[in-house]
Amino acid sequence: LEKCWDQGWLRYHLVQDQERLKEYNQLFTQIVLMKEGSAAGLVDESSILSSAVKELEQGIKQMVGTKPSIDAEVKLDGFIWLATFEQIEAALSDERMASRATELQNPVPEQDIRVSMDEIEALKKRQKSTDGYVLESFLFRGKKGLLLLANSESGLLYAAFHLLRLVQMEQSLDGLKIVESPKNQLRMLNHWDNMDGSIERGYAGQSIFFERNRFVADKGRIKDYARLLSSVGINAITINNVNVHAVETKLITSEYLAEVGQVASIFRRYGVQLFLSINYASPIQLGDLDTADPLDERVKLWWKEKIKEVYDVIPDFGGVLVKADSEHRPGPFTYNRTHADGANMLAEALRPYGGIVLWRCFVYNCMQDWRDRRTDRARAAYDHFQPLDGQFADNVVLQIKNGPMDFQVREPVSPLFGSMPNTNQILEFQITQEYTGQQKHVCYLLPQWKEILGFDTYAKGKGTLVQDIMSGDTYGYRYSGITAVANVGADSNWTGHTLAQANLYGYGRLIWNTTLSSETIADEWIRLTLTADKYAVQLIKQMLLDSWSIYEQYTSPLGVGWMVNPEHHYGPNVDGYEYSVWGTYHYADHQGVGVNRTKKNGTGYTEQYHTENAQLFEALGSCPDELLLFFHHVSYTHVLHSGKTVIQHIYDTHFEGAECAHQLLVQWLTLEDKIEPVIFEHVKGRLIEQSEHAKEWCDRINSYFYRKSGIADTQNRLIY
Ligand code: GCU
Repeated sequence: LEKCWDQGWLRYHLVQDQERLKEYNQLFTQIVLMKEGSAAGLVDESSILSSAVKELEQGIKQMVGTKPSIDAEVKLDGFIWLATFEQIEAALSDERMASRATELQNPVPEQDIRVSMDEIEALKKRQKSTDGYVLESFLFRGKKGLLLLANSESGLLYAAFHLLRLVQMEQSLDGLKIVESPKNQLRMLNHWDNMDGSIERGYAGQSIFFERNRFVADKGRIKDYARLLSSVGINAITINNVNVHAVETKLITSEYLAEVGQVASIFRRYGVQLFLSINYASPIQLGDLDTADPLDERVKLWWKEKIKEVYDVIPDFGGVLVKADSEHRPGPFTYNRTHADGANMLAEALRPYGGIVLWRCFVYNCMQDWRDRRTDRARAAYDHFQPLDGQFADNVVLQIKNGPMDFQVREPVSPLFGSMPNTNQILEFQITQEYTGQQKHVCYLLPQWKEILGFDTYAKGKGTLVQDIMSGDTYGYRYSGITAVANVGADSNWTGHTLAQANLYGYGRLIWNTTLSSETIADEWIRLTLTADKYAVQLIKQMLLDSWSIYEQYTSPLGVGWMVNPEHHYGPNVDGYEYSVWGTYHYADHQGVGVNRTKKNGTGYTEQYHTENAQLFEALGSCPDELLLFFHHVSYTHVLHSGKTVIQHIYDTHFEGAECAHQLLVQWLTLEDKIEPVIFEHVKGRLIEQSEHAKEWCDRINSYFYRKSGIADTQNRLIY
């Protein structure tokens, strides 16, 4: 295991601008916590509040070079006052009483107390925003300072991180007034880590949690990870793979529970709740029963006792994530039960403790005969789950991948969003770059995620966006939000490619506030992590913003997916998945390419959308170019909206994409004296590989389609 690691975007390097440094110096003299007792005993060491205070101390020490005192009352100019709404209300009313009593001698003007009660009231009312906070410049008893105000300690921790972010970006804190409240209730990460230390689809080294079928002994790195996650608002995590193998099945037994508990308490201090992926067949696998039938009383009892055992050790355990009847994993189908039967049984066991079941909808026939054109994998999730709307317990949340297939470079949005008003849902993204360059290629995914979240489902008429369904606003879901497969491993930079850190950072920032732009998020990450140099920030930002579309250009034309090498999924192989059992075909022949998913004479997948989208995708004339081959089989000479033929589009985008990938390298090379040498060299190495590999993609794909179609490139470029 790597014994050292960088601090990601929490580097906290010394503020460079001298004026700013002076300002901060005067502003951060005192941290005020409203607790009785001596300064030393002000906070319980294991509390989230203590994490907030420690983070402020560390950040201020490193960025400003000072050490604020910790006190129970405002004494000096330059205080940072952390308080819950209750505490501040009490303090302010005391203050008013006191001021009335001493009015004549020593008046405290009403406007001196400049906290905006209206906004606080509004924030308090929104039940799900227990994580929200106010951060504002504040005048108290004639002393100037900052007030960090929240409903809960996690809100205070988020406020502290926000303040530190502003300092790291060297922004003025004059007249500050920030009111934040997260868009999503569940802001989650799913690790696909195995206990042997490997990570399924991991591209950043071994697991930071496990090695050789044990937990890692030194958990220091897990704490730093918790800090990184909390700093961008993540509040829930699963630490083990959705494919729960033999050893991992035992995570819910006495053999491992104590250590699961230790990890849970590290995360707890940063407001991150721990969940586990479980094996649906645990009662059998652990040797207790001969069945996992969800309607069998013995099975129900087994899970009730098991869940109690877990809560005895981890009182705030979040719940379980389940991949059932999916890619050979066990599930309720074995017993002719529905997924509602399966999920509800677990939900009953979790209910007494407030736990939830995250039940994945990635259920499809993975033993398909490629000659069978009626079965369409894209249809599967909707066909399985939509008819069950309303049958799930209220502490079950269906976990749905963003698209109907599997995290391809480009897919339409899953039609399940907006089709199950009576069932809690959570959307699953993939941060780990399985199909998007495996953290060897740079692929900043924020633009993709923003498109998905901004997609109009028309479920309740125009303007029913995915992001409002996931936030629970559209249907008033009891539980909902967003989750994603993590891209983190034990590499010293956490994510393999340093630029892939931007995806982890950006994921958290975006699901907290879906109105942030990809550009703003990139800008923040670069300045926090790499450099404040204007030229460099601008250049790297543009590289990131262009990277997904560049990757799409040289890999996946017009919404066709799966042209990758089987199993590991890296590198081009046009027919790699064509004649396989996975339901992943593009049907290219000498005349044309693409999958006919129309209602008219295809698989009928388009019908799963609400009318406006169904019509949009159904008609060749309106189907967007970038999804054309996902929905239609067309000839190579079909003319796109862009005016080009399909075949010419394939040639052009591949040549252009490969050239743009090379330009990314050329651009990076201009940053040599502006980026820390280790990072500069590392990224340069990755960009060299990307540039060469993009050329290979270009050649293979162009040659394949040239040989299939026999149609020449109008520009006569070299195609083998
Ligand atoms: C993809 C991925 C698998 C993963 C699966 C899932 O198929 O390649 O490694 O297990 O998704 O999401 O369950």
